Amino acid sequence: MKKEKKYERLYIQIKDLIDKSSNNPLSNMATIIAVLHNKMPDYFWTGFYLLQDGKLQVGPYQGSLACINLAKNIGVCWAGINAKKTVIVDDVEAFPGHIACDSRSQSEIVVPLKNKDGDIVGVMDVDSRDKNTFDDADAKGLEKIVSLVY
Ligand code: SME
Repeated sequence: MKKEKKYERLYIQIKDLIDKSSNNPLSNMATIIAVLHNKMPDYFWTGFYLLQDGKLQVGPYQGSLACINLAKNIGVCWAGINAKKTVIVDDVEAFPGHIACDSRSQSEIVVPLKNKDGDIVGVMDVDSRDKNTFDDADAKGLEKIVSLVY
């Protein structure tokens, strides 16, 4: 199945789950991560990092053990926060300051998470064990899914 179609199906599935049972952003994040991590074979680590008192701290995730705190303004997640847009990294080794919570990660996508007021409150982060995993179809698909959190 084409990636665009797959994301469209996942969006409908997640929206249905969330609409039926939750008005809690944290529960929504956990649900989104569980669905994506188990349905997308390339997703090696799937989770949220949330802004808390100016720090970026891990939220709901699935995959190997992650860093709890990300040093300020360093790495891909902070790049997404600071740029206020989705960041795709084809080769994490080529990204200055990349934070390797698990050295098996090779490529990565970070999508800003906005609250109801449009303020950025964190990011969704997905890592792959292969280089060049993520493209514009992943960005568009994930941005739409992330918009379901709030
Ligand atoms: N690689 C991220 C850190 C989080 S882990 O990928 C789970 C970064 O550079 O911000």
